[in-house]
Amino acid sequence: MVRPFKIFYRFASLGFVATRMQAVDFFWLTTYNRWATEIYNQAIEALFKLFTGVKNLTGLMICMAQLELKNVSVKFGGLLALSSLSFTIGGGKIVGLIGPNGAGKTTVFNVLTGVYQASEGNVTFNGETLLGKRPYVIFEKGIARTFQNIRLFSAMTAIENAMVARHCRSKKGIVGAILRTGSQKKEEAYIQEKALEALKFMGVDQYADTVASNLPYGLQRRLEIARAIASEPQVLLLDEPAAGMNPAESSELMKDITRISQLGIDVLLVEHDMKVVMGVCDHIVCVDHGVKIAEGDSHEIQNNPKVIEAYLGQPANQ
Ligand SMILES: Nc1ncnc2c1ncn2[C@@H]1O[C@H](COP(=O)(O)OP(=O)(O)OP(=O)(O)O)[C@@H](O)[C@H]1O
Ligand SMILES: [Mg+2]
Repeated sequence: MVRPFKIFYRFASLGFVATRMQAVDFFWLTTYNRWATEIYNQAIEALFKLFTGVKNLTGLMICMAQLELKNVSVKFGGLLALSSLSFTIGGGKIVGLIGPNGAGKTTVFNVLTGVYQASEGNVTFNGETLLGKRPYVIFEKGIARTFQNIRLFSAMTAIENAMVARHCRSKKGIVGAILRTGSQKKEEAYIQEKALEALKFMGVDQYADTVASNLPYGLQRRLEIARAIASEPQVLLLDEPAAGMNPAESSELMKDITRISQLGIDVLLVEHDMKVVMGVCDHIVCVDHGVKIAEGDSHEIQNNPKVIEAYLGQPANQ
């Protein structure tokens, strides 16, 4: 009776030690991994500052991002919303996505952010497939968006909206939040600082403590962009940011989009305001019924017969 118990005890303790070692290994591996990544990022940042002379790297990501749709199709029952669509966002460019109502532009955003799944084809970000990934995972990877119909946390203040987005870059978990540890408080203060920087960048910092739903429409649009920037994205997807804006507001928006691009963030812009699109985009993709009908710079797009027929139309005097 004693011997089997001893054998069992020995195996059990060996199992316990092995599990414990695995847990410790896992802890150190993940911690080292995080430290190594942090040290690597700091080194890259220091070198970048040294060679470019750029001192303020707030929100800056070095442009290496490449977001790619490869033969993507999306079906809703019998409706083919996107049909074998391919194009690339990256290289520091502002890419415009245009097309008539129902062409599939918002569907592209939803596929890129994991809201919809492609029926066929692939979506890759820096070579890694995004297929099957949840929206919050894609967001953490550095793809942020705004919505065609504004979707703020309407009962939260402007700064709280931006802080929520910034949380994806935080390291402290639920335990720290419950115990309110010193390091958690420090991180929370840092999140607040970064969120305020994003509000400042979009010129809405004076409304930091205003509840989002109380802001006028134009400022809500700006806050939505600020919220996306607070997450330090590599790619920013803007779905009709100029919708409902007056000419003065949309020309201000054009300057903002250029400034965002100068931060090193790649931009995909969906917009019906052709002045904004032609004014800021380096490259434009035109879709119609989910099919790419043209791709090129603003001059090529404006003179493309297919684009003119499907979307732009002829000038009134012709
Ligand atoms: N969840 C869905 N279920 C069914 N059909 C959908 C869904 N989402 C989009 N569609 C359809 O897919 C097509 C493309 O829609 P999408 O919203 O992408 O167009 P869009 O180019 O963004 O148009 P707009 O310029 O009006 O915003 C439309 O025919 C639309 O009705
Ligand atoms: Mg749309």
